[in-house]
Amino acid sequence: MNQTFPIKLDDYNRIVFFTGAGISAESGIPTYRGKGGFWSAYDYEEYACQRAFDADPEKVWDFHEERRKFVAGCQPNKGHQVIADIQSKKPSTKVITQNIDGLHQRAGSGNVIELHGSLWRVRCDREGIVTDNTRIPLQTRKCSCGDYLRPDIVWFEDMLDTTVLQEAIQSVAKSDLLITIGTSATVFPAADIPLFAVQRQITTVEINQEKTPLSHYYTYSIQGSASEILSRFD
Ligand code: OAD
Repeated sequence: MNQTFPIKLDDYNRIVFFTGAGISAESGIPTYRGKGGFWSAYDYEEYACQRAFDADPEKVWDFHEERRKFVAGCQPNKGHQVIADIQSKKPSTKVITQNIDGLHQRAGSGNVIELHGSLWRVRCDREGIVTDNTRIPLQTRKCSCGDYLRPDIVWFEDMLDTTVLQEAIQSVAKSDLLITIGTSATVFPAADIPLFAVQRQITTVEINQEKTPLSHYYTYSIQGSASEILSRFD
């Protein structure tokens, strides 16, 4: 497919990219839903909620340590790279992601707003301390206070960090173009972000392999692979 992109990035000054698992699919990281989706293979009630962690922190950590090891072996793809390049040419460009894999940062993107947290941070809830940690395996799963550390990820049934959500909303409020990439748009409040942009009459573009429940709200909805379509910006 060699169709030109429906808009010119040069016409916009404050671009926001809003990404989901689809952008990392071409790095070999499974998406969450659909065929081969992560949540078809694993029950979140066993591995990705506070209840599971409270019941068996070692089991939940084993699962997350495996994910850290797997993701560390994956590389950012052309899609992440194009976004990082746009950000370096237009420093006002923001990235809001639902992904916890850190691939935007590894591609060179800065100030990434991570709505659902990160595999690469650990948190002590008793002390309220969050720490970057990329060590594989972890040196310890416990805080110096004696409590278990937990992944700083927004698990099922957790609330989003309101400061992070506010920062994301503020970025969209100030933007003149929102480009959503590779999300099924089924998880809220994250899926409200494009709707918020639509309400504010900001130009919106969706890039996704298939149509989503929000496709018809966008100014432009493009079906195809994230890396292939983003390459047209090159
Ligand atoms: P999903 O797995 O729900 O959706 C991924 C979307 O990406 C689907 O609509 C696919 O069609 C599309 N897709 C797959 N490969 C693609 C490609 N190469 N190019 C373009 N699109 C592609 O993932 P998310 O919407 O990100 O939460 O899921 C949202 C949240 O649900 C995640 O952040 C995660 C999950 O539970 C946490 O981990 C906290």
